[in-house]
Amino acid sequence: MVNKLTTVLSLLLATLLSSNLIAAENNTEQLEPRNEKFEQAHPEQYKTWKATSESSELADGLAEDPLMVIMWAGYGFSKDYNKPRGHFYAIDDIRNTLRTGAPKDGKSGPMVMSCWSCKSPDVARFLEENGEDAYFTGKWAKGGAEIVNAIGCSDCHDTRSKAFKNGEPALKLTRPHVLRAMETINKPFAEQPRLDKQAQVCAQCHVEYYFTGPTKAVKFPWDNGMKVGDMEAYYDAIGFKDWTHKVSKAPMLKAQHPGYETWTQGIHGKNNVTCVDCHMPKVENEDGTVFTDHKVGNPFDRFENTCANCHTQSKTMLQDVVATRKAQVLEMKLIAEKQIVAAHFEAKAAWDAGATEAEMKDILQDIRHAQWRWDYSIASHGIHMHAPEVALSVLGTAVDKAADARTKLIRLLAKKGITDPIQLPDISTKEAAQKALGMDMDKMNKEKQAFLKTLVPEWQAEAEKREATY
Ligand code: HEC
Ligand code: HEC
Ligand code: HEC
Ligand code: HEC
Repeated sequence: MVNKLTTVLSLLLATLLSSNLIAAENNTEQLEPRNEKFEQAHPEQYKTWKATSESSELADGLAEDPLMVIMWAGYGFSKDYNKPRGHFYAIDDIRNTLRTGAPKDGKSGPMVMSCWSCKSPDVARFLEENGEDAYFTGKWAKGGAEIVNAIGCSDCHDTRSKAFKNGEPALKLTRPHVLRAMETINKPFAEQPRLDKQAQVCAQCHVEYYFTGPTKAVKFPWDNGMKVGDMEAYYDAIGFKDWTHKVSKAPMLKAQHPGYETWTQGIHGKNNVTCVDCHMPKVENEDGTVFTDHKVGNPFDRFENTCANCHTQSKTMLQDVVATRKAQVLEMKLIAEKQIVAAHFEAKAAWDAGATEAEMKDILQDIRHAQWRWDYSIASHGIHMHAPEVALSVLGTAVDKAADARTKLIRLLAKKGITDPIQLPDISTKEAAQKALGMDMDKMNKEKQAFLKTLVPEWQAEAEKREATY
């Protein structure tokens, strides 16, 4: 009996000790942010991850659709807005965009640290080494020399775990704010089955979020749910706005990319067909071993390993379905924009005619809601595939809210003696629209070039020095 007890106790002690040892090992081993360091252990995964660099095209969203310059007047997105490309380019692109401005040192703006949060495994490293407050506090340029490796292995995996070293996925949420958000929706990561874990890994970044509190930390606005009205009610209740619209003065919301949220509402999400089923299929090597293709990109490029796993229809047939839906969403998007842009200019005309805050309050709220709904529907790329019915119905409500605003505006303008239609300036191209807003693009571009030539090389040199010590 005593013998048995001592065996049990010593076993228990051994387990405790070894788990402590593992914890200790994890804490002292540097979290590796450099993707190339995993090439030797996991060549297929590395090679296919690196192949995200093949998706290199930079598509200028504002040139394609200049109305968006007006939609985002007074906010960074009106300066430039490119469509997404491969994960490989995440760091280049955040440095290059005019939205991050041209900081001269670690203290200058315009953006905050939070902007790095979905760009790099260095974010996971920095958070672990310094804590959330130290990470989030300060301007974006503070992180320039720290956050240098593009989205990769240590963003999605527990790269120090034995399981990962043995070639198992060991998926991990690497940001505390994401762990908290999943608890908010009663889907704590650790308790989720494999498929849900896969989708949550993408939801670290392909989601709606905002910056809050004294440090401007990232939070997902999911307390009431993930539907468009749930988040709208959440933001309204806390009186949050991303910016004040330059033309209409409306208190605006910017939707980021609620891809995870809208996917859950679509037919595939409802059937728990996850991002990974389509964007990271299991494929076969020449020698017959199966691995996960890490080139997230267009699933039609690997049709046999993606759609065809579950569907018998031909590739062209399914591509046609998706293309038709894309055209439908685009058409509704432009219809909504036309109404919302008109409402912004009519609101300006009302202010100019002497409208009061009290007279404008409801109208500005309608504009805020209309544009939020427009943005929620279109900001997550691929929605025409993931949840086209959500996009179309939400865009319908955006048009409705814009119509409410414009009906009220017509009455208000009439009260102020203005009965002629409000004329819009020339906004037919990106350049014309930016000029109409009085934006000095030459100056911004010059300052950006100077930043890229002076500060960025300094960041890079400092990072290399630090990484040499790992
Ligand atoms: C965007 C998230 C993401 C990134 C970045 C990422 N992985 Fe993965 N990885 C996954 C997912 C998802 C799976 C499949 C999980 C499953 O099957 O449940 C996976 C699977 C794996 C596996 C298990 C074996 C296999 O092929 O299924 C290995 C090993 C692996 N990844 C290595 C890497 C390496 C090395 C890198 C960096 C070069 C990397 N991963 C980057 C998400 C990611
Ligand atoms: C750490 C944040 C992060 C994670 C995790 C992440 N993404 Fe991304 N993803 C991004 C960013 C940022 C971009 C845009 C990069 C750019 O344009 O520079 C992007 C771009 C993409 C694109 C467009 C690629 C192209 O070639 O046009 C797809 C598709 C995509 N992600 C799918 C996924 C899937 C699927 C997962 C989960 C397995 C995932 N992402 C996980 C941040 C992330
Ligand atoms: C049923 C398959 C499927 C699922 C599930 C799926 N996607 Fe997609 N996704 C696609 C297809 C197909 C496209 C490209 C549509 C097209 O060709 O117009 C796409 C496009 C995208 C794009 C835009 C790429 C670009 O360059 O514009 C992103 C980002 C993306 N998906 C991320 C995700 C994320 C994140 C999830 C999970 C939350 C997810 N997808 C779930 C099939 C899927
Ligand atoms: C893991 C399995 C799986 C994969 C992979 C998958 N689908 Fe599906 N798909 C489903 C299921 C399940 C449904 C719902 C079927 C039902 O309810 O009858 C569905 C429904 C559909 C529908 C009809 C529903 C609608 O939206 O009208 C289309 C179209 C579709 N999928 C296209 C695609 C395309 C394109 C791809 C590849 C990019 C793809 N699917 C990948 C499982 C899958």
